[in-house]
Order: sequence, then C-alpha cells, then structure tokens
Amino acid sequence: MKVLMGMRNRFFQEGMGMGSKKFIHGDAKIPSYDAEYFNFKAESEDFVKLDLNENLVIDANFIKNLLISACENIDPRLYPPPRGMLALKAISKFYGLDEEMIIVGNGLDELLDIIAKAFVKGGANIIIVEPTFSMYDFFVRLYGGDKLEVLLKPDFTLDVERILELRKKASLLILCSPNNPTGNQFKEESVKALLEEFKGLVVIDEAYVEFAKYSVLKWVKKFDNLIVLRTLSKAFGLAGMRAGFAVSNPSITESLRRIMLPFNVNSITQKIIALVLENWVYFKKQIERIIQEREWLFKKLKEINGIKPFPSDTNFILLKITKKGLTSSAVKEQLREKGVLVKDRGMLPLLDNCLRVSVGTHRMNEIFIQKLEEVLEDVKA
Ligand SMILES: Cc1ncc(COP(=O)(O)O)c(C=O)c1O
Repeated sequence: MKVLMGMRNRFFQEGMGMGSKKFIHGDAKIPSYDAEYFNFKAESEDFVKLDLNENLVIDANFIKNLLISACENIDPRLYPPPRGMLALKAISKFYGLDEEMIIVGNGLDELLDIIAKAFVKGGANIIIVEPTFSMYDFFVRLYGGDKLEVLLKPDFTLDVERILELRKKASLLILCSPNNPTGNQFKEESVKALLEEFKGLVVIDEAYVEFAKYSVLKWVKKFDNLIVLRTLSKAFGLAGMRAGFAVSNPSITESLRRIMLPFNVNSITQKIIALVLENWVYFKKQIERIIQEREWLFKKLKEINGIKPFPSDTNFILLKITKKGLTSSAVKEQLREKGVLVKDRGMLPLLDNCLRVSVGTHRMNEIFIQKLEEVLEDVKA
C-alpha cells in the first residue's frame, strides 16, 4: 500500500486509522479542469451566452439539418471508421493535404492530450507563452512535464528573443495563434523566425484561424517539426460534436497514430465533419458576418467610458475594465445576474481586470452592450 501511495497516479489510499479504503480520483496535485455548465437554450433571447467562444451566429436549424442528414446513413450498431477515416478523407480533400499528414480527434483538446501523451509524458521541458489557453498548462502538468513560461510583451506580441534564449532547454513550444484570450494573431515573421530557429517540436493551435489574417498550414511541408491544430468548434459551430484535427509531417503523425484509440471519433461526428466541409460556402458567409459583428462590437466598446477593448483576430474580444472601483470579476457577476455570461480573465498575467466576451448574434451583442453600460452606470450611482 505504501508503494501505491507514493505513485503519482494513485487510485486509493488507506483511510484514517481504521484500515478502510478511500478512493482518490487521480492525483491531488493536478487541478481538474472544471468547465462551467449552464443549462439553457442557445436560441433563447433572454440568456446571452458569450463565455466560451461558441459560434451562436450560425443558424441552429442549419446545423441540426446537417446532423439529421449525418445520422441517416449511419448504423450505430457498427464501430465507426477507425481513426476518423471518413472525416480524415474529407479533410484531406478539402485542405489539399495528404491523408498521412492528418490526425482526427474529439475536438482539439483530445489532440493536445495525444500530443502530450506522445511527447511530454515521462518528462520534458515545454515553453508556454502566457497568458494563453489554460489546457496547455493542464496537459503539461498531467503528463509530468515542466513548463518554461515566457510572457507576451505588454502589447501582446511574441517575445521571440526570450523564447529563443530558452530554446536549448526545451523540446516543445506551444503557440496559440490567434491567441486565446488576448485575441491577436502573432506576426507571421515572428512565427516564422521561431520555426526557423527552434529545433524541437512547435505546436501551433489555430482554433480561431478562420477569423484571422493567415494560417501556418502552408508551412507544414517546409518545417518538419511543426504540428498545426484546428477545431470545428469555432468557425463551423460544432462545439457540441467534438471535432478537430492535427496536421504535421507523416513521421510525427505516425507517432501520434500509434498511441491513439482506434475508434476515437464517433460515426456521427465523422459524417458531420464531411458535411460541413461540403457546405463551406455557407460557413464562409457566416465567418464574414462574425468578423463584421466583431468590428461593430469593438467600435461600440471603444465608445464606452471605463472600457478598453483590444483588437481581435478571433470570434471574441478581450476588454479591460478601466473604471475605478470595478473589478472584472464583479462585472462578470453583475452581468451574469442580468443574464449575460462572459469570461473573467483578470487573474492571468498581463490581464488585470480583463474580461473575454464572445461575438454573438447582433441581438446578443446589443444586449451585452446595454447590460454592460447598466453595470458601469450602477457604479456611478
Ligand atoms: C485556443 C483553443 N484551443 C482549443 C480549444 C478547444 O477546442 P475543442 O472544442 O476543439 O476541443 C479552445 C476552446 O475554447 C481554444 O480556445
């Protein structure tokens, strides 16, 4: 028992004194990732959900109809095509990439898990550029890696020099571009400079790239240490279906394939991935609508005293509460009481008093602005 207690992933330990057994789930040192869950209808007007960068601009009925078509040709008694093969073929055709360069996962999160299992487990030094998406830190800790933290510059640009100073100590670099939660896409030259100089693996999370200026997908053939990650949760509105993919050179994808579960992506998700890609023209229009809405929202926020929004290349906007006497956590709570959900990011480095808000439908964005103004007014009173 003593040996078991000393193990990192212990499942049980002796209870206090009595010799009874108590279950311990996982390792107490690894914080669980608790995603908040609110049960409400996405279409309802009175609850404005802008906290998780979901895509509520896409018409729910359009997606539901695709889902119905996806289900029509599926026999749930059968295992799905292994390793997301059906989706993989559709992705390969749509993006013009060789099939061996692609891995399909249950959302981008699962791909991060597979990558960390392959390249972090057992110990590795990973450069993470903060503030960024918190799941990178989670997986590095989960698999026993060491994080080498590099801060963004105060204007949210990459500190290329600092990253390169650490290059000899690290075997992996994770970048999120455009970055969540700052919203900006890093300069193409900076990312290229890192790819040219960093000899370890470079993972670039492009979860929001469809709303941005450029993609690094074109460099996968040039740099054999690059893994690009994509999701269908954002631009394609499939957060509930769990769909993502990784693109890299075939020797890296082969190492990942070896440790993946054979039937990881279910039949419906595979089919709907193929269907959304066939309907790209529709999605492209929705992406353009979101970008227009984002610019409208940014302009409105800029006009409000006590708020400083940051420019965004994504489907969300980071904003700082500059009004005296108000904190981002208080604003988040007050907005929540008024039926508007946003994400508080004020606890992260460089993001003192910052909130992150998704771009919703025009109506949702209007309600958000109105409620935010009310919260700011209340402080004055
Ligand atoms: C940067 C980034 N990467 C990955 C994800 C998760 O993507 P998925 O829903 O495909 O797991 C998110 C979700 O918010 C994200 O912001």
